[in-house]
Amino acid sequence: MKGNVILTGFMGTGKTTLGKLLATKLGRPFVDIDKKIESDRKLSIPKIFEQFGEEHFRELERAAVKELSEKRGLVIATGGGTVKDAENVRLLKSSGIIVCLTCSPEEIFLRTARRGERPLLDGGGDERLETIKKLLAERKEVYDRADYHVDTTEWSPLQIIDDISRYLRQFRS
Ligand code: S3P
Repeated sequence: MKGNVILTGFMGTGKTTLGKLLATKLGRPFVDIDKKIESDRKLSIPKIFEQFGEEHFRELERAAVKELSEKRGLVIATGGGTVKDAENVRLLKSSGIIVCLTCSPEEIFLRTARRGERPLLDGGGDERLETIKKLLAERKEVYDRADYHVDTTEWSPLQIIDDISRYLRQFRS
């Protein structure tokens, strides 16, 4: 398969960790959109949100999607909100296969407990679980549009990578 493999899904579903593992397994370069933005902009995502606001971050995200969609043969991890933008989805779809990682809100709550990393979830306490549920509901439709879904709540990274690899085998050419 010549196209890109794109991992998307909500915050805390394991896009970065699993993306690295999948890239190693497939022998492809790995690019994490958030990390690319941080290194291009020389600022952390929370600082970009704080200093320039979410809309500016979304612009940087769109520019990164545009650049990466012109390449092939990559494993790409998106940010959790990248696929909210219809043009991002169109570009990513035209460049490869989109795999969406899913997870229960309670497990996402536990996995995203460290504060200061995810500006959209930094409410704290029970409020954070409510925010997660609300954002998941708002984004359900866009995540549902991915080509393939894997639930990461209970499976080990190895099981998930095996499952995605099996799914991708049909596109081998
Ligand atoms: C966001 C998810 C984050 C990051 C930014 C916004 C979102 O990425 O892009 O904080 O809107 O869901 P991760 O999903 O890698 O945490």
